[in-house]
Amino acid sequence: MKNVGFVGWRGMVGSVLMQRMIEERDFDAIRPVFFSTSQHGQAAPSFTGQSGTLQDAYDLDALSALDIIITCQGGDYTNEIYPKLREIGWSGYWIDAASSLRMEDDAIIILDPVNSAVIHQGIDKGIKTFVGGNCTVSLMLMSLGGLFANDLIEWASVATYQAASGGGARHMRELLTQMGMLHNSVAKELENPASAILDIERNVTALTRSGTLPTDNFGVPLAGGLIPWIDKQLDNGQTKEEWKGQAETNKILGTSSIIPVDGLCVRIGALRCHSQAFTLKLKKDVSIPEIEQMLASHNDWVRVIPNDRELSMRELTPAAVTGTMNTPVGRLRKLNMGPQYLSAFTVGDQLLWGAAEPLRRMLRILL
Ligand code: HSE
Repeated sequence: MKNVGFVGWRGMVGSVLMQRMIEERDFDAIRPVFFSTSQHGQAAPSFTGQSGTLQDAYDLDALSALDIIITCQGGDYTNEIYPKLREIGWSGYWIDAASSLRMEDDAIIILDPVNSAVIHQGIDKGIKTFVGGNCTVSLMLMSLGGLFANDLIEWASVATYQAASGGGARHMRELLTQMGMLHNSVAKELENPASAILDIERNVTALTRSGTLPTDNFGVPLAGGLIPWIDKQLDNGQTKEEWKGQAETNKILGTSSIIPVDGLCVRIGALRCHSQAFTLKLKKDVSIPEIEQMLASHNDWVRVIPNDRELSMRELTPAAVTGTMNTPVGRLRKLNMGPQYLSAFTVGDQLLWGAAEPLRRMLRILL
């Protein structure tokens, strides 16, 4: 059995990873070693029924004794520890949720339902570093994989509707606190059906602008609104999140000529499901039934939702998809621009396929 180290298993992505590994009985197939950056020496979790102590996540000797390390600890940890481990000659497999190493030549972005050939070629070539993709990119490819696999996409333009969890656990708390404060401020008036809604709205807007809502994490109020910016500002006017769309999509797919992907990334008040609205230029006119068939047959998790009012409202929403492995795609129709222009709307759980699931599946591939 392989010795597998886990770092950052207690954080939000790490917890989802642990939960999925328990569900899939992955711990039965490995010898797990749990690390901590702050609490080494304390009791390790007993997901497998075994007892043990937490190891020091900065102990290079302990880390280099492992066959595989899976980290959800974040980019700073990766930047500090990974180069040191490689420098002392550790040649184990590094599986990482953070973005730091994603675009390195000797790293592969993992999303095996989409790029298992790229992953296996990499393993055969001796690649040892495997990194989970950006959540919007992974979720797009899980939902639209059938069109990419059939080489049908000339370009993709996207508007995202990204959940608070993409920022982290503290962002989710901040959003919910903002929501609660806004509601509390007008709760009494809301109970009175005779109260004027525009007075209520005025109070909510005044509180939103008052500077009293907590905004340490998002920087500005999100509840009841949106933020049309995610991640750093680049010199070309894109956000870093928007830049990742094309860079990571093409790296995951291993394309020989770049498929343009660009758009506008927006934070909304969802908790953990990212949604995305696409305009796709197809390389040729393909009928909607054929498109639906290609999409539906691509992987076990995509669900094609017919472009129907009731079904879209019931099945193509964060409320329906959160906490599930499904990656539905719907609102499929040809746009007024012409028969090669397709609209599509996708939804997916940002913590599952967008973060934890590709990591545990990569572990399985290596066992
Ligand atoms: N960067 C993404 C977001 C999450 O902020 O929603 C991680 O891929």
